[in-house]
Amino acid sequence: MQTNTLSNKPIGIFDSGVGGLSILRAMRKFLPAEHILYTADQAHIPYGPRQREDIRDFAFGITEFLLDRGAKLIVVACNTASAVALHDLRARYPEIPFVGMEPAVKPAAAQSQTGRVGVLATPTTFAGEMYHALVNRFAQGIQIYQNTCPGLVEQIERGELEAPATRAILEAALQPMLAENVDTIVLGCTHYPFVIPLIQDITGPDVHTIDPAPAIARQTQRLLDEHGWLNTSQAPGRLQFFTSGESASLEALLLPLLGETGIVTPVVWENSTLKAVHRS
Ligand code: DGL
Repeated sequence: MQTNTLSNKPIGIFDSGVGGLSILRAMRKFLPAEHILYTADQAHIPYGPRQREDIRDFAFGITEFLLDRGAKLIVVACNTASAVALHDLRARYPEIPFVGMEPAVKPAAAQSQTGRVGVLATPTTFAGEMYHALVNRFAQGIQIYQNTCPGLVEQIERGELEAPATRAILEAALQPMLAENVDTIVLGCTHYPFVIPLIQDITGPDVHTIDPAPAIARQTQRLLDEHGWLNTSQAPGRLQFFTSGESASLEALLLPLLGETGIVTPVVWENSTLKAVHRS
């Protein structure tokens, strides 16, 4: 197949909810011409506390849904799903480029002056082999302090980015790290970049918080360029959104979180298959 016919195909992006919009935000800056299919599996959010097998099934079902709609590359914009399913997805679809999330332990370790780094992520991300491999490989001589943030994903899914309850969750996770003199915070969940302003307000200006989204967008650009599949159009790419949850509530969050609006099509799970519900 001529590579240039794929350049006009969309990129598939998915997450358990709005977290992947933090990745899409960066994609729109680096790759504005790319058409996007974004899927939020909000019927199953949060993924963090779920069984690995269930998360894997969700990731495979969503990937099939996106490939059926012509996706040329898949971004697993979810640290939890990446930790559980990325390796198996690549093995099952060797012809499809996948970009996954991994906590930014390497850049954090490289830039920390105190040699003390804090990591925020979900329990499943912390339990994954990938995370431990990253720490063993890139955090030699660095003290890692890690914490989950129970309830934070739900707060962000409600758009409550500055609510007192959101601040309380972050203070509980960050203060023990600050007491240990960490100077760099790794956001190991794609929801968390939406509360960077609140995190910085809690940590103060001397602590650096790493948003992984630009690196993911650059990696996607590199992969598309290597395959000759970059969309070189001057027109902005089309955005299509799908959710297994409430389409109206996702639509309402697009402008505040992404800075753009779009139509959200509801999808439903039929066993392990995701199907679009056509609006009447
Ligand atoms: N945003 C996802 C992540 O990066 C998942 C959060 C969740 O559903 O628990 O892990």
